[in-house]
Amino acid sequence: MIRFTDVTKRYPAMTRPAVDGLSLEVNEGETCVFVGPSGCGKTTTLKMINRIFEPTSGEISLNGENIISQDADRLRQGIGYVIQKTGLFPHYTVFENVATVPRLLGWDEERITARVRELLQLVGLDPDENVPKYPRELSGGQGQRVGVARAMAADPPVMLMDEPFGAVDPVTRTQLQNEFLTLQQRLRKTICFVTHDIDEAIKMGDRIAIMNDGRLVQYDTPENLLLAPADDFVAEFIGSDRALKVLSLLPVPKVLRRQFRVVKDSAELEAVRASFDASNRNRLVVEDRYSGALGYVTRSDAEKATSARGWNRFIRPFPVTLPPEATLRDALAVMLQHDVGAVPVMDGSRRFLGMVDLEDIRSYVGEAYQESEPDPAEEEPS
Ligand SMILES: Nc1ncnc2c1ncn2[C@@H]1O[C@H](COP(=O)(O)OP(=O)(O)O)[C@@H](O)[C@H]1O
Ligand SMILES: [Mg+2]
Repeated sequence: MIRFTDVTKRYPAMTRPAVDGLSLEVNEGETCVFVGPSGCGKTTTLKMINRIFEPTSGEISLNGENIISQDADRLRQGIGYVIQKTGLFPHYTVFENVATVPRLLGWDEERITARVRELLQLVGLDPDENVPKYPRELSGGQGQRVGVARAMAADPPVMLMDEPFGAVDPVTRTQLQNEFLTLQQRLRKTICFVTHDIDEAIKMGDRIAIMNDGRLVQYDTPENLLLAPADDFVAEFIGSDRALKVLSLLPVPKVLRRQFRVVKDSAELEAVRASFDASNRNRLVVEDRYSGALGYVTRSDAEKATSARGWNRFIRPFPVTLPPEATLRDALAVMLQHDVGAVPVMDGSRRFLGMVDLEDIRSYVGEAYQESEPDPAEEEPS
């Protein structure tokens, strides 16, 4: 949808180009995160998309059309822009700030009022409370929310976000990131997002463009980036904890053991013992008759039971469970915290989906890295 073809930007005072031969394509509905050290050309790249700057050479196209041949005002109306210090007009109220673009577009007041209220709600601000406020009366997080609302006012298909959550405290930043991810899941805008923080890039990006000295070093999904960094610069930029970071991208169903023995709480002791014999394990998951997981029973407890139904009182609740949306990182965290080697995964109606096992996480990640290591034989001269 947004395509850079060999784009170079030179500023007169600089010896090297600020952006150097950039070629990449941002897919419709995806978030592309530009990341790299300060001065690597991220902001310049963004500002060429809405024509604050023009490339020295090369071409940028939007929906297949060179942006240079489009009317600049029209182009910008289709592109929301959010920057770090919010860029809110200090003498305008929240209402007037968010209403800026709809007013430019000549919407009637009724439609503008409805849209402003809708947007404030969308970004988690109470409209009644915030509409009359001035930017100086807002906290950092509230200001950024208004900035996002203003950028989305005319429902542009494209959003440019330059370190949008960079100036707020870590707790608020996490909150804003999560809210924005939820919003984006629904709205599916095409987003170019700039950050210098690799963790934020991994969290927010469908694809990540790592830049260094104006050049694109790697353009990949977060998972590929972590598993197969293109060079030493990327590996160092990602950090030595990349094995841990990749865990946060992998949902638990990736390693779920589904072939787990389950017994009903109404089963007879005979059947329970038979299941133990067949399973070669020391624990069985117990479900009630509606298939909601109750907990587990151990082999030795089942051996202690004497009557057909008496084993029932040995059912123990799981110390901890995970939802299927949890990541392997979440799984590892609860295993360490609760000192267990496996955690059951249950959906919202307590249906047992399987077990995540520490050993499975270890071998899954180990194999993923092995696959992405270059084969040394290929590099040897023949
Ligand atoms: N308007 C400008 N005039 C001259 N040089 C600039 C201008 N804007 C940025 N630069 C230079 O271009 C390089 C890239 O800057 P920038 O795109 O802002 O990087 P980033 O956003 O990655 O920190 C830097 O060396 C910066 O000093
Ligand atoms: Mg910048």
